[in-house]
Amino acid sequence: MSKLYIFDTTLRDGEQSLGITLNVKEKLEISRQLVKLGVDVIEAGFPASSPGDLDSVRTIARQIKGVCICGLSRAVEKDIDICAEALREAEQPRIHTGIAVSPVHMEKKLRLSPQQVSEASVAAVKRARKYVSDVEFYAEDAFRSEPAFLVDIIQKVIAAGATVVNLPDTVGYATPWEYGDLITYVMDNVKNIDQAVVSIHCHNDLGMATANSLAGIKAGARQVEGTINGIGERAGNTSLEEVIMALYSQRSTFGIDLGVNTREIAATSRMVARVTGVPVPAHKAIVGANAFMHASGIHQDGVLKERQTYEIIDPEVVGIPRNLIILSARSGRHALQHRLEELGYAVAPEELNEVYARFLGLADKKGEVYDEDLHTLMGNAEQETNGLLIKSVSVTTNGGSAPASATVVLEMNGETYTDAACGNGPVDAVFKAIDRIAGKTVKLEDYTLKSVSRGAEALGDATVKVRYSNMIIIGKGISTDIFEASARAYVNALSKTDYFKA
Ligand code: KIV
Ligand code: ZN
Repeated sequence: MSKLYIFDTTLRDGEQSLGITLNVKEKLEISRQLVKLGVDVIEAGFPASSPGDLDSVRTIARQIKGVCICGLSRAVEKDIDICAEALREAEQPRIHTGIAVSPVHMEKKLRLSPQQVSEASVAAVKRARKYVSDVEFYAEDAFRSEPAFLVDIIQKVIAAGATVVNLPDTVGYATPWEYGDLITYVMDNVKNIDQAVVSIHCHNDLGMATANSLAGIKAGARQVEGTINGIGERAGNTSLEEVIMALYSQRSTFGIDLGVNTREIAATSRMVARVTGVPVPAHKAIVGANAFMHASGIHQDGVLKERQTYEIIDPEVVGIPRNLIILSARSGRHALQHRLEELGYAVAPEELNEVYARFLGLADKKGEVYDEDLHTLMGNAEQETNGLLIKSVSVTTNGGSAPASATVVLEMNGETYTDAACGNGPVDAVFKAIDRIAGKTVKLEDYTLKSVSRGAEALGDATVKVRYSNMIIIGKGISTDIFEASARAYVNALSKTDYFKA
């Protein structure tokens, strides 16, 4: 068995997705879950890119132990110095520095000659090595580079002290056999390649990131980079959960030692979707809502006779426990606690009464309470922690073109505020009533509402994106009442800012 290092870049390349902005608290929450999942490296951010990123990387480096914490930097002295400073308190710090190496990037973007790029690469690695013993070099757009130039630069950065060399398909252009060939070429031609770990980093523009990553691993790469749910620039990065489960399912072919707790995959995916506000498509491999559902009669018959007829993965292996008990208002605390534990939620004894009360409130409205409801129930609890709570929302609509009106009661740090407003429709009226309470306005960029779970009383899951102080902020809210869900989402987004502060 050969060790493969799992490098998670959800907080750096994943956060580069359009519309995702995570605050420190959210990044810490995801980092803790990544530790539970058992990744080897967390790329926590790009410290020189903004004071916010610097603060996040510094906080993660200080608080998250038992895993390598990595920061990205360009091959620029100032970036490397800031990155080193951010990582100062990390138990296992790594600086990830590099530069673009393809002709189009060097000529058109950097306006540097290959010689200058080569010199900058070596200088960057040497500078990073002054601070930390673990330095990863990325050769951006390696897939479209001249192979001989790539070999030369990789050899030089390893000689300069790089411990990991990353060969990205930055624009997601490769096919699996071409990407595998590139890794083989580097392995065969870089004389000192045995002194570094070869890392792969694929983007999904042609839908081949997972396949390309597997080809890279087959060719000898021993670190794979990716994100949870495959989030990232444009069409995203390699989905780590897909690579992990491909290697797990085909372990006799790959002979790879993963060291990952696969049972944390579903919980990690749900958390990333909730915190980023980017939902997982129902048909997404491994973590989509339908990934383990059997709909057609022939398939259901087959699975009932022998699971393996249509199931290549036991859902329990990725943390989706089989459900034998249907929860309802008749279920007791013990049944609820048992199911929550199976779903990965540790409820402390002193919290159980409160969780049970919320569960009963939901069960009274819904009848049967499904796993999806429990996830949202628990997710909602985590969201309403900023001293803000929607107490009630009432809406009046008269149909046609007449304006709608809404009254919102909001609790802020124990005090109750009520206001009402009219709007172009009931949701607009709800948001305007909240604006009146805050005494401010904000630009709504996007709003979506979908139903979670089953039945006429399914929960409404609202997501809003608002622009405030030049930042896009995402908020989520859940309730059996869609207006309340919308109000919660709006307040959840704005609670991450100073919107409600005088
Ligand atoms: O895709 C890419 O090339 C990158 C590098 C900055 C590592 O994300
Ligand atoms: Zn990337």
